[in-house]
Amino acid sequence: MAAFVAFVSTIMGFAVARPSLEYFDNPFAVENESKEVRSAAIKRLLEVFGMEDPPLPRGHKQPPQYMLDLYNTVADVDGVTKDPYLLEGNTVRSFFDKLHSEQVEFLFNLSTVARSEKVLTAELHLFKLRPQASSHFNRYHFCQVSVYQVLDTTKRNMTQGKKLLSSRLIPVHSTGWEVFTITQAVRSWMTDEGSNLGLMVTVKTLGGNQMDTKVVRFALGRNHHQSKQPMLVLFTDDGRRSASVEHTDLNDSPAPPSLPHLPMPAAARRSARASDYGGEDEGEKTYCQRQPLYVDFEEIGWSGWIVSPRGYNAYHCKGSCPFPLGQNMRPTNHATVQSIINALKLTKGIETPCCVPDKLFSINLLYFDDEENVVLKQYDDMVAGSCGCH
Ligand SMILES: *[C@@H]1O[C@H](CO)[C@@H](O)[C@H](O)[C@H]1NC(C)=O
Ligand SMILES: *[C@@H]1O[C@H](CO)[C@@H](O)[C@H](O)[C@H]1NC(C)=O
Ligand SMILES: *[C@@H]1O[C@H](CO)[C@@H](O)[C@H](O)[C@H]1NC(C)=O
Repeated sequence: MAAFVAFVSTIMGFAVARPSLEYFDNPFAVENESKEVRSAAIKRLLEVFGMEDPPLPRGHKQPPQYMLDLYNTVADVDGVTKDPYLLEGNTVRSFFDKLHSEQVEFLFNLSTVARSEKVLTAELHLFKLRPQASSHFNRYHFCQVSVYQVLDTTKRNMTQGKKLLSSRLIPVHSTGWEVFTITQAVRSWMTDEGSNLGLMVTVKTLGGNQMDTKVVRFALGRNHHQSKQPMLVLFTDDGRRSASVEHTDLNDSPAPPSLPHLPMPAAARRSARASDYGGEDEGEKTYCQRQPLYVDFEEIGWSGWIVSPRGYNAYHCKGSCPFPLGQNMRPTNHATVQSIINALKLTKGIETPCCVPDKLFSINLLYFDDEENVVLKQYDDMVAGSCGCH
């Protein structure tokens, strides 16, 4: 994916030459050709992010706190993965209940999950509310909460109409999030979408009787704050991990420095970038090194559906690889030999080695999909961690 960095240079170079989208609204300034190049480039960039079309930005819903916390745990402020081993897969999706029932029943529409995605874990997150005053209040300390997959909606109160997925004791007086594993059910829904008849939850006393619904309550339907809505969280892997052996390994190299230009206003950033691309001659003088390359999602027109980050520093590798190549240029043996052949002019037409990324990091995107579900996705090989002569 080294080509990606070069590709971003193309897009961003384009953005530098034509800094605003309004440019395209001016019929006199529009050249059909460049418009096509831009749209083809952005389509290709979407493919890098695993999408065919950009999700439709609709209302500005608040993303679930769980997803924001997860993002901040996995990624630093620039979206760069802090610890590549924290997530097992590369995708985490959150879904809200579609049923809005007064009973403890839920239906989650998983139609946005690609068939190719491997389901690793699925969780039902329920917010347990404080008990309402009741005569039972002092009688029970624990209740048995069980989550079932509905197999037959007409027989949901009978054993043959449902399948137990998860069950445990919960303190009656507790309040906060309770998480139940429901992986089995989601796997079966993924193989047969029509079998998704939802989930139901029962709350019983230790003696097996129905618990008073005033005592053990979960935030349901539309009666509670959005931040307490029942949620399905799905951990998957889309198999788009990089094939490169030199995988994102932050352990053997320092974390990439934070963006030096983040606090800069957009205009200053733009001119800084413009100079990056302006001086070809300038580049010839410097030796191979890593330089900033800020990919601004707002400039690309994606800020409507990407929650975080607003952009990221992909970096790029620039500079010459002349003989003799020092260790600071991180040359491969092949590059060293090539630079010697070039210097000695032993064979005609042999160039000096190329300055390319030799370590790549992954970034994380938190975004709204077409159905307004919030998704966290990890993309490999997106940030040049260091450069070398290859
Ligand atoms: C620009 O493209 C549109 C369709 O994409 C076409 O209808 C129009 O004639 C083109 N204009 C020029 C000047 O080529
Ligand atoms: C899930 O959402 C898709 C897309 O909006 C829709 O076509 C489908 O009918 C929905 N499925 C259910 C079970 O509601
Ligand atoms: C199942 O039981 C609940 C509570 O016991 C009741 O409200 C509901 O109507 C029953 N549903 C069916 C389909 O019998």
